[in-house]
Amino acid sequence: MKLCIDTADIAQIRRIYEFFPVDGVSTNPSILAKTGRAPYEVLKDIRSIIGKDGELFVQATAKKAESMTEEAHRIVRELGEGTLIKIPCTQEGFKAMKMLHGEGIRFIGTAIYTAMQGWLAAKCGAEYVAPYVNRIDNMGFDGIQVAKDIHDAIKGSGYGSGLLAASFKNSQQVLELAVYGVKAVTAAPDIIDGLVKNAAIDAAIDVFTEDFEGLCGKGRTMADI
Ligand code: G3P
Repeated sequence: MKLCIDTADIAQIRRIYEFFPVDGVSTNPSILAKTGRAPYEVLKDIRSIIGKDGELFVQATAKKAESMTEEAHRIVRELGEGTLIKIPCTQEGFKAMKMLHGEGIRFIGTAIYTAMQGWLAAKCGAEYVAPYVNRIDNMGFDGIQVAKDIHDAIKGSGYGSGLLAASFKNSQQVLELAVYGVKAVTAAPDIIDGLVKNAAIDAAIDVFTEDFEGLCGKGRTMADI
């Protein structure tokens, strides 16, 4: 399963890339707004951190299909071909997806709250479809179940699509979808940190260090004994 970071915070992207096996960075207009910076400026900074082959997800903001495709062309021109355009799964969005599919531009279906949207986006040629797990939960439905339903609906379809599940409130949700075999998830830095934030792990490592230092001396490691 691919793991992406759902943020445009440059310091956090650098930190998470340093420590975790990350495949890309996803953004949306709200995430970009939080930076307070010019969108292409911050996106180019992200591109320079993740390299030309890192997957960078950038959302089209127009409501009409023709305008979304214009945005897609500009975004790819500015940020390179490893950039995937996030297209909201509306009727206009599906029209835009069909146009982009014919042009060979990479895109994903986003703003997914129902399995029906996910299935349609996959059928339109979306490389990924992005159900919003936590936002679905907050509406009184089961976000993980919606994500699993989409995964099941498209996995044997031959559409070549898979999940980029998004909007997580905890790390366990990420693990549950990893176990289920989804293609990718994107999560905020604190959710990624949470994958290894565990007092039992820290306590076990401390005991190992203490025992080794008791044997070989304070500050010693296998490199300098
Ligand atoms: O791009 C959609 C996704 O990032 C939503 O996450 O945490 O705002 O619900 P969140």
